[in-house]
Amino acid sequence: MSASRDLAINYANEHYDDFLASLRELLAIPSISTDSAHQADMTRAANYVAERLHSLGMENVKVYPTSHHPVVYGEWLGAGKDAPTALIYGHYDVQPPDPLDLWETPPFEPTQRGENLYARGASDMKGQVLASISAVESIIRTGDFPVNIKWILEGEEEIGSPSLPEFISEHKEMLAADFCLNPDAGMIAPDAPTITYALRGLAYFEIRVYGPDHDLHSGLYGGVVQNPANVLAKLIAGMHDENGRITLPGFYDKVRPLDEEERAALARLPMDEAYYLEQTGAPTLGGGEKGYTPVERAGARPTLDVNGLLSGFTGEGAKTVLPAYAMAKISMRLVPDQDPEDIYNALMQYLEENAPDSVRWEVLKMHGGKPSISSRDNIGVRALSQAMKEVWGVDPLFKREGGSIPIVGQMQEILGLESVLTGFGLPDDRIHAPNEKLNLTVWKKGIETLIRFFFALA
Ligand code: BES
Ligand code: ZN
Repeated sequence: MSASRDLAINYANEHYDDFLASLRELLAIPSISTDSAHQADMTRAANYVAERLHSLGMENVKVYPTSHHPVVYGEWLGAGKDAPTALIYGHYDVQPPDPLDLWETPPFEPTQRGENLYARGASDMKGQVLASISAVESIIRTGDFPVNIKWILEGEEEIGSPSLPEFISEHKEMLAADFCLNPDAGMIAPDAPTITYALRGLAYFEIRVYGPDHDLHSGLYGGVVQNPANVLAKLIAGMHDENGRITLPGFYDKVRPLDEEERAALARLPMDEAYYLEQTGAPTLGGGEKGYTPVERAGARPTLDVNGLLSGFTGEGAKTVLPAYAMAKISMRLVPDQDPEDIYNALMQYLEENAPDSVRWEVLKMHGGKPSISSRDNIGVRALSQAMKEVWGVDPLFKREGGSIPIVGQMQEILGLESVLTGFGLPDDRIHAPNEKLNLTVWKKGIETLIRFFFALA
């Protein structure tokens, strides 16, 4: 076994340039799932990963159309009924690259500077998808694969995976596995391999506030006619109290409290205030609820944030106008056992109770996703811990993550399937922001980790 493992690791070292070339090809496809102008690119990216699976000898490779973007499936079940089956998850879609002018090199022209590769999706998560494919290739080209594998590669993660529940429900048998390997989470630091055991959920809304039926002269009408921008600002300000707690009615009803043991474990992670200051460049932190540490606030407590605000005159100079319209995009990160639907109702109740009748308002539901907590004791976690220790020389850290991956909760609910969450992205990768990058030194270690992981499973 260890001889075949070493052959695979040698193969990976020898073919590193080919792996990198393939990653660059996938990164050059602007597969932006939220932007309908990129429909054709979504299909190209799906076909690209399907073709990669096919060329590795995966069977039943298929690009399944859905109501939004296609799901790519493939499998290799040659290890037999007694061997474990790992379902490998990935998403080939990315977030929009805006604001474009802040990129040092174009987002879809992958560029290496030093040990980093810069491109939208390099870290989140095309690099992780290609690490998995490269690890599997290294094993398959040098011997027999030690376990059964299945792949589910989706194109909707960055928009909340709206088609996935239906797809999963309709393909329960096809997706049956012992666990799901999900490399869409990251590491705490380059020398700290990390396994994530909890994700927050998401409830995302657009609030639109309408006042007069056209923009008004702010001198002639200001003080007489209600200003929708003022109203929206006040409504938003009222959504937190002075302790940073969210005021929507019933918002905390289903929040699972942290127990002392978990608080103590989280406190041991190297993620203190200084860490967050360094990652973000903020003057001081100041966010979140009183009574909780930064790492608890980010992983185990729910939040409400404005993601975008729009109203009135925002050009150069000054224009005296009382705008007819104001809009805010607001997202809430949820923790177990909050439910996005309850949160929508809480927001509606808050607005009904607090919005004045001098404006008209409406709420649009954008995407959502449920929070999840994953098991920390299964064959996947044990094999991954062992592989990480072999590569990094230290045991992995276990953390809760503030980001969301909707499919993790969906798989638990619909398939009863646990995910093992990991990844080889770093906190300074600027995912979702300009100049996203992937640290290639860590990526290479990630490929070796995954090779060792598959052997450790068997
Ligand atoms: N990979 C991220 C989530 C993530 C990042 C997990 C870092 C762990 C560590 C994922 O692609 C993502 O960004 N998800 C979205 C989901 C949303 C649009 C439903 C998110 O969290 O904003
Ligand atoms: Zn993302």
